[in-house]
Amino acid sequence: MKDVFISEHPLIKHKLSKLRDKSTEPKKFRELIREISRLLAYEATGDLLLSPIEIETPLEKMGGCELKEKIGLVPILRAGLGMVEGVWELMPSAEVLHIGIYRDEETLNPIEYYNKLPVEPHIAVCLILDPMLATGGSAVATIDILKRWGVKHIKFVGIIAAPEGIELVHSKHPDIPLHLAAVDDHLNDIGYIVPGLGDAGDRQFGTG
Ligand code: PRP
Ligand code: URA
Repeated sequence: MKDVFISEHPLIKHKLSKLRDKSTEPKKFRELIREISRLLAYEATGDLLLSPIEIETPLEKMGGCELKEKIGLVPILRAGLGMVEGVWELMPSAEVLHIGIYRDEETLNPIEYYNKLPVEPHIAVCLILDPMLATGGSAVATIDILKRWGVKHIKFVGIIAAPEGIELVHSKHPDIPLHLAAVDDHLNDIGYIVPGLGDAGDRQFGTG
């Protein structure tokens, strides 16, 4: 599938199996979300642009480089929150921009309830963070919001996707790359990814 990157990294596969395991407690679950997110973000950011700068080592001057563009991390509340810390460790100069969306339990449609984007768009690259891409409704709504705000480069970083969600994002936003740890089999009749990991928000925050 074009622009769908599924990690083959053994560390991600190992950690993902622990994450899925129903006996994994919330504390360990949060740790694993953070670690997997960091590894996925490392893989997803291999094409960030650099600017040349001059630096001085203790011995002499030399040419160095720095990230050229302002990066925004956009966790979709709630479950995306757990992905922020691990990704932020890799790029501490990134800004974190929160978007709150939940799925209506009956219709599975995304409902936006929080948006903390500043008025002026000043971010060149946004990484949307959400562990679960199920129907794809929440991801599409977030991409809509970021595009309307004026972001030129957007990537979605998620942990598990359903084929249905990938299909929806591709049909609405074919330009957005998806970076994932796994694509599962299907959605069940209440919109959960199978085999999946259950409810990513509840398992992180001990609710449900
Ligand atoms: C989950 C998940 C995604 C969404 C994916 O959030 O974190 O945001 O579902 O489903 P979709 O692809 O069908 O839109 P949820 O609505 O459970 O909210 P929560 O994170 O606050 O628990
Ligand atoms: N949200 C989750 O947390 N899990 C799913 O399987 C689907 C949506």
